Amino acid sequence: MLSLTNKHILLGITGGIAAYKCAELARLFAKAGAEVRVAMTKAAVKFVTPLTMQALTGNRVSLNLLDTEAEAAMGHIELARWADIVLVAPATADFIARITHGGADDILSALILATAAPIAIAPAMNQGMWSDSGTKANLAVLRERNYHVFGPVAGEQACGDYGMGRMMEPKELVKNCSGLFKLGSLAGTSFLITGGPTREAIDPIRFISNHSSGKMAYALASEAAAEGARVTLVSGPVNLPTPEGVQRIDVLTAQEMLEACLNNVSDADVFIGVAAVADYRPQQIEQEKIKKNDGLMTLNLVKNPDIISEIAKLKNRPITVGFAAETNNIIENGKDKLDKKKLDLLFANNATETFNSDTISVTAISADEEQPLAEGNKNLLARNMLSLISTRLKK
Ligand code: PMT
Repeated sequence: MLSLTNKHILLGITGGIAAYKCAELARLFAKAGAEVRVAMTKAAVKFVTPLTMQALTGNRVSLNLLDTEAEAAMGHIELARWADIVLVAPATADFIARITHGGADDILSALILATAAPIAIAPAMNQGMWSDSGTKANLAVLRERNYHVFGPVAGEQACGDYGMGRMMEPKELVKNCSGLFKLGSLAGTSFLITGGPTREAIDPIRFISNHSSGKMAYALASEAAAEGARVTLVSGPVNLPTPEGVQRIDVLTAQEMLEACLNNVSDADVFIGVAAVADYRPQQIEQEKIKKNDGLMTLNLVKNPDIISEIAKLKNRPITVGFAAETNNIIENGKDKLDKKKLDLLFANNATETFNSDTISVTAISADEEQPLAEGNKNLLARNMLSLISTRLKK
């Protein structure tokens, strides 16, 4: 199920007895790493409650086309755009007939008309209805329109009949949906990334920090998630939106960043330290604003923990990748940090050009080679960096 990580599944439920299986279906999608939103027809709520589906998915269920409150949360057009796939399970004979003819008189059929995502249906009905020529003709039209038809399967039916018409089992439906997505090159891997600056308080209104914008770390997080990795981003204070599919943990200080990293490193395959962590913090945080005086002002600083070195010391450490923003002797200083911090790989860059810029030029340094990567925008370079990292994942 790896290709479902971070995918948006719009689960449409129509009014058939098999609707009770949708609770299990939603649970399996969530377990496979997908986010699920549910739209139900009026008949469907007679078989499974919206509250059950809301509790299982953590999202409000769409029930009416003309519900102003629901539209304010996520309008039906927005929902149609949000979906990476629409799965209607169970799909009754009546619902199949309505969508064949472009009906849009309820929330689910309107979503189906509006979406550009692939649509799959899992028919479930009495065997006589399934073999009816009207149903057959409708399905032929839908197949012609590239709908994916999953099932039905043969078996005993709720009405006592035996034959084709049972909904495909939830496990099989999840497998079939996952088969519709290409597996990202980082599917099944887990990344822990630090980014942005840290902020070390001096008094209630002043702090020590630096110019890191978080752009490089966010680009790496976003590209890794797009390739199917599970990504946790431990972020200092920055003004950037959380990339899609990324779990973000906000921190302020180096000590908080270390704690968040240690709490989340156990299942990480790769750790990337992009953050510009303050090396020192004031020995004491003054409780009141420090007043001006005429003489020199002295601030006693103590060393912060070195987060990446702590990660590199762990017994079952992930592949540990650092960055070094240097103003001089970039490669030499980079090699020195690779060595001292016991890193697998380090991206050395020019500090005067990189902080808060949209572009970056880096040299990848490892124990046995140096490889300059052409200058480019941070997302493009993030892809090149990830492809270097992924060769180590395969070793
Ligand atoms: O955020 P942007 O505006 O996009 O800018 C990107 C960047 C310049 C911040 C990034 O490209 C970069 O180079 N980050 C590392 C900054 C740096 O110079 O770090 P450093 O030399 O202090 O540390 C080297 C490595 O140790 C880094 O991986 C750093 O995250 C890590 N470190 C450092 C100190 C510390 N106390 N704990 C650490 O984990």
